[in-house]
Amino acid sequence: TTVEWEAESYDMGGHDTYMHKEISEQADAVDRVLRGRIDDRFSTVHLGGLNLDAREARGVRRIKILGCGTSYHAGQIGAQLIEELARIPADAEPASEFRYRNPVVDPDTLYVAVSQSGETYDVLAAVQELKRKGARVLGVVNVVGSAIAREADGGTYVHAGPEVCVVSTKCFTNTVVAFALLALHLGRIRDLSVADGKRIIDGLRRLPEQISEILAGEDEIKRLAAEYADAKSMMFIGRVRGYPVAREASLKLKEVSYIHAEAYPASELKHGPLALIEPAMPTVAIVPDDELLEKNRAAMEEIKARSGRILAVAHQVQEKADHTIVVPKNENELDPILMGIPLQLFAYHTALAMGRDIDKPRNLAKSVTVE
Ligand code: G6P
Repeated sequence: TTVEWEAESYDMGGHDTYMHKEISEQADAVDRVLRGRIDDRFSTVHLGGLNLDAREARGVRRIKILGCGTSYHAGQIGAQLIEELARIPADAEPASEFRYRNPVVDPDTLYVAVSQSGETYDVLAAVQELKRKGARVLGVVNVVGSAIAREADGGTYVHAGPEVCVVSTKCFTNTVVAFALLALHLGRIRDLSVADGKRIIDGLRRLPEQISEILAGEDEIKRLAAEYADAKSMMFIGRVRGYPVAREASLKLKEVSYIHAEAYPASELKHGPLALIEPAMPTVAIVPDDELLEKNRAAMEEIKARSGRILAVAHQVQEKADHTIVVPKNENELDPILMGIPLQLFAYHTALAMGRDIDKPRNLAKSVTVE
């Protein structure tokens, strides 16, 4: 499977940075991770390399996802997708934390290691420790044949193609889509109905076009980035599906622009961070049109009442926000895949306006292969 790597070259193809190139490639990248895997007859997907038969999949009692940085955030969305679609308790943890706390390794737990490079030391060491203790470990990895892909018992490649920019964009999106496929696969072996399987498949098929739609709004996002570029610090909020999106968007902004940013569950605002809200500390709110819409509106109201500025990412214009980036609606479960994409462009344009070294932010490395 080296073909995928040739599909996109290392040529900048007219883009000023790899980050911009990689953000722009996401519709094609998502198309690639879906290709050849959808089974319409049974409303499921086939993931060839899992090495987990249906009987084994039914025996899984928990799923523990391990990764670092952006891959950890992709794993957080992955855990939610698995809980929603397959109803298997799942959570994500930074691989380093997991390694150092002498975790209980349980035979009914399926471990999933997530990594773009497949070489991150903390993830690799966690995999090796788990295998030594007899656990079953899958890899969700981008680089074919990498160390984590080789160590794992099976897994799936995310087919994002080469990612050069130190900060991860298209690989994040493809990793989340790969988790949606894994969740759908596990769900259809367990209790997810044919109708729901079909609903998710239809949603997955809409993603590439919807990504193109979001990317077509780049000029407006650039204008918004200029509007908020005076911020000393930014708050990112979301709830449940929106929270890992907020975390990843906050990481993106701090990595490339060096603006301080933090992410909070919207529900936690009143337990501390509201004290920080003032005009110089704008908030980016992830506001999907789902069962938590009213709750998110209430959080925005609390921020407005303290004269905070709000940029919402939502499926419809939000009256409580100063600005809204409207993104196309998909199935509720799949909304997180799309909602972070405009904020990748937001981080990029903020950093560009500040003259940052976008592809190689200070102090950071593309892959951290030492402890
Ligand atoms: C480094 C990179 C991040 C990346 C993380 C995990 O810190 O700067 O962008 O998310 O490593 O990398 P991996 O290759 O394991 O996904």
